[in-house]
Amino acid sequence: MNKIAVYPGTFDPITNGHMDVIKRGAEIFDVLTILVAVRKEKNTLFSIEERLNMVKCATKEIKNVNVAVLDTLLVHYLKEHDIRFVLRGLRAVSDFDYEFQMALTNSELYPEIETIFIMSSRQYIFLSSSIVREISSYGGNVSNFVPKCVAEKLKTRRK
Ligand code: COA
Repeated sequence: MNKIAVYPGTFDPITNGHMDVIKRGAEIFDVLTILVAVRKEKNTLFSIEERLNMVKCATKEIKNVNVAVLDTLLVHYLKEHDIRFVLRGLRAVSDFDYEFQMALTNSELYPEIETIFIMSSRQYIFLSSSIVREISSYGGNVSNFVPKCVAEKLKTRRK
């Protein structure tokens, strides 16, 4: 049976840190679906369509990866699609509390869920979407931090 996992996130925008998790996850699972969360409560820089398109563009070469929108509870999506595995990246100890809370809440709501954590590669431990947004908003060069199509898109959003 195929091992299918989802990798949910806001991806505002997707960074090379996320790409590291995606590439390594795609080697572990037969199919990896990246779920771009709508997150109405977050004031995102990019719209859901823009975030979705950036993730699609960044991952188009990875054969067993596909991309979808998450506009509901994660557990609802998982039940509806009969998926048990959730992939998340861990950068530092500071991520742990939040990730632990999410994993435990999700498994309370849907006990069959298994959350699998991939430890960030050393060069991406410091990286976050908000750092990328900040550097770019002041005209800084983000080409080492994000896929090429994301760097291009960020240039259109400078102050
Ligand atoms: N490399 C680089 N950055 C990383 C990273 C990695 N490996 N892992 C996380 N990050 C950063 C992101 O860039 C982002 O940075 P920012 O806060 O500076 O913008 C931050 O960590 C968190 O991002 P992300 O991984 O996208 O997670 P999230 O917290 O935005 O996503 C969801 C949370 C979408 C998974 C969660 O809210 C969810 O499942 N929502 C659906 C509704 C639901 O079910 N809610 C109940 C959940 S218990």
